[in-house]
Amino acid sequence: MARLFAGFTIRGGVLFAAVATFGCGSSKSSDGTATDQEPVSWNGNIAPLVAKKCVGCHQTGGIAPMSLESYASAKPYARQMLAEVAAGAMPPWSARTTDECTPPYAFKDDPTLSDDEMSQLKAWVDNGAIEGAASNTPLPVPAQRTLDNRDLELTIPTTINVDGGSDQLLCFSLDPKLDQDAWVNGVQVNPGNPEIVHHVLLFSDPQGQSIELAGDKGYYPCFGGPELEPSPDGPSFALLGAWAPGGVPTVTPPDVAMQLPGGSRLVMQVHYHPHDGVHSGADSSTSVDLRFAPTAPRLVGKLALLGNISQQDWDKAGGEGYGLMPGPDDPPPPAKAEFSIPPNVSGHTETERILIPEEKGVKDYLVWGIATHMHYVGTDMKIDLVHSDGSSDCLLQTPQWDFNWQRVYYYDTPLASAPVANFGDVIQMRCTYDNTMNNPQVVTALDQQGLTAPKTVTLGETSLDEMCLGAFGFAVEGK
Ligand code: HEC
Repeated sequence: MARLFAGFTIRGGVLFAAVATFGCGSSKSSDGTATDQEPVSWNGNIAPLVAKKCVGCHQTGGIAPMSLESYASAKPYARQMLAEVAAGAMPPWSARTTDECTPPYAFKDDPTLSDDEMSQLKAWVDNGAIEGAASNTPLPVPAQRTLDNRDLELTIPTTINVDGGSDQLLCFSLDPKLDQDAWVNGVQVNPGNPEIVHHVLLFSDPQGQSIELAGDKGYYPCFGGPELEPSPDGPSFALLGAWAPGGVPTVTPPDVAMQLPGGSRLVMQVHYHPHDGVHSGADSSTSVDLRFAPTAPRLVGKLALLGNISQQDWDKAGGEGYGLMPGPDDPPPPAKAEFSIPPNVSGHTETERILIPEEKGVKDYLVWGIATHMHYVGTDMKIDLVHSDGSSDCLLQTPQWDFNWQRVYYYDTPLASAPVANFGDVIQMRCTYDNTMNNPQVVTALDQQGLTAPKTVTLGETSLDEMCLGAFGFAVEGK
């Protein structure tokens, strides 16, 4: 016994493990000496891992098809769990460090398994996925996928029927009934019928323009954006939140919130997209939850969608070298570069360079959240921040793009050390596309339209159009 305990600090957990190992006598290392390792078991190792990295979705009533909350419910899936994790398909998380991109910080709630966790999962499955002795250690709480403490929930005012398999973009005018200015620090979109809800954007409408647009029906068709006019004298509409499949709430860091002027309406743009054999359906319950900061914040939060530039136009973009850049498959100059992805081509790229706009009273844009967005032809997207001295930081790369798993990534660092974009810096985004039948997403998207061969893909809203769009959460000083 003395030898067994030698070298251990006698803390409850370690002591217990050593005794149990000795007691069962089965776990000896190859030279025959007893080890302090119990065989990997559900209760001992896997339940805590799965609670932290899988149960956020794999729970009763969650977004995944089966629960992994208990040994009984997880054991039948043991091999599949290992296979999905080894293939990088689970847990879904598109942000990766690559040879050409090391983001400045890790991202919050990154559920990717460490090498050690990966070997534990493998050992568990290889040893017959045993349950092991019950443990009294509480399980870790999974990363939150919903907003805590919402102040307001607003639901679409009517039932929408999607019929005939074609896309519809509708803007709902909602009334948050605010008689004074509010500061939004959390927004969660709840898609009512996830079979047909393709994306949702939430905008403020400080001038209440959407009331007239929506009329008695409470909604209006809207294609590109909310179709509100910028206001010359008073606050203009602004993006407050976004959701696409796989999405998580938009949550600003402490000291940051987005302004919602008193009297504002909200416009919720819902893109209904029948797909995968679902050619009709109804939605009566898509809703949005808002959470407000109790007082005005130190920094103003702004969401920006940047990119989606259809044509090279250096006059409009701020000079030569900005906007849509000439790239592969473009016609030779003097013809202008176009956002156009030819059929049967893989590795096609579109690159956009966006100058950080000078705004009165704004010095720095602190980046607290970032997301990539493409459709089905996209395979890889990379966002760099290029400083005016020529140095650059890679902010995010999603090299295994999956339309079904999109989210905002939040840097795991206090705001004070967040990446900063100054006027004169450039946000550079490179999107890579595979418009061939080797891309399973392309096959699916074509199939939905009854097509069997790839076609030229340009910029647009529907599933056989493409995008190259970055979403940014900025914090700025000022009003
Ligand atoms: C962000 C939500 C989410 C997380 C986190 C997550 N899953 Fe999943 N998982 C899903 C969804 C949704 C599906 C259904 C298939 C799909 O949409 O990809 C799925 C499918 C699976 C499947 C295939 C089931 C089948 O019948 O085909 C396995 C196995 C699996 N997940 C294991 C895991 C494991 C193990 C973890 C943790 C290491 C994990 N998942 C984490 C959402 C998640």
